Amino acid sequence: MSLINILKKKNRTALFTTPSHDGKFCIFHKFYQWYKADISEIDALNPEKGLEEAEKKASQIYGTKYTKFLTNGSTSGIISAILASSPKKILIWENAHPCHKNGAELSNAEIIEYKLPLDNELGVYKAITVSEVKSLVEKHHPDTLLITSPTYEGFVAKVDEIADFCHKSNITLIVDEAHGALYPFSNDLPISAVKYADFTVQSLHKTAGGINPTALLHSNKIDPTKALSKINTTSPSYPMLATIEANIKFLNSSRGHKYIRELLKNIKSLGVEQLNDDPTKILLKGGFKLSKKLFEQYHIEDERTNDKTTMLLCGIGTDKKKLERLKKVLNNLRS
Ligand SMILES: Cc1ncc(COP(=O)(O)O)c(C=O)c1O
Repeated sequence: MSLINILKKKNRTALFTTPSHDGKFCIFHKFYQWYKADISEIDALNPEKGLEEAEKKASQIYGTKYTKFLTNGSTSGIISAILASSPKKILIWENAHPCHKNGAELSNAEIIEYKLPLDNELGVYKAITVSEVKSLVEKHHPDTLLITSPTYEGFVAKVDEIADFCHKSNITLIVDEAHGALYPFSNDLPISAVKYADFTVQSLHKTAGGINPTALLHSNKIDPTKALSKINTTSPSYPMLATIEANIKFLNSSRGHKYIRELLKNIKSLGVEQLNDDPTKILLKGGFKLSKKLFEQYHIEDERTNDKTTMLLCGIGTDKKKLERLKKVLNNLRS
């Protein structure tokens, strides 16, 4: 079947996956005329100036020195953050997203891959702790440290304390916060690294209502524009960049804050014990067997599963109706 026909097909499975917008949550009506908005750097409209202003406004919202809009995912943000750091010796997690190693290799730095213990009860890795960071630094003396927080399954590091330690030790801290793009917009969600780390990268498309593969690179150190230009196209998609501007405006609005409050309330009403730090990543004990059952019997697709736990991803776009459908299924499974 052609890709266009696959994309036109009706899908009846409830998706607890990325992107969380679920094809329904649309805050970008004006940009539906994609072709019309698809312009280059024409003098008649000067979209570069508009982008510059939108990014400046975003950095004020996030409280960062620089915030850059990305249309090639957190992948491009992490690689650029590494290149911008010009590391000589970089510490990366051995089980991190592949872009960590790719970026480190491109930078020509000496790479040390660190291990983190697997939580045997849940079958997942938890976030790195402050004492793990301290002992790694003591052992390897890096100038750059790359950590993932939250982890895929929603475990969050003490990024403020880690940043404090790194800065006192002259280490550049890069935080992969791909799964934490909602954190800056709710006090009921875990801590975000955006104000603390030297570089923080967030995928808007995973949980924050953005379209694939919109993301953000925040910097409190140097302007990452030059590093981004090493891997970015010179023909950016202005309609896609405009969705990022609209996305941030929504997240920062009272409507956006209310939406997140409602989302968290609806997740809480499922009555599921929270096993992680981030309630938007519903972590269920059950693993592959449960995942198969949810998919085949109840037409519910999870984001990720292992032999012990199954993670259902929620975010902007996960409406009450979908959560009620999940609640019924979970009640059924419990009885
Ligand atoms: C922890 C983590 N970091 C980075 C990425 C890359 O993000 P993107 O798909 O926005 O490029 C992913 C993607 O799944 C991820 O899970």
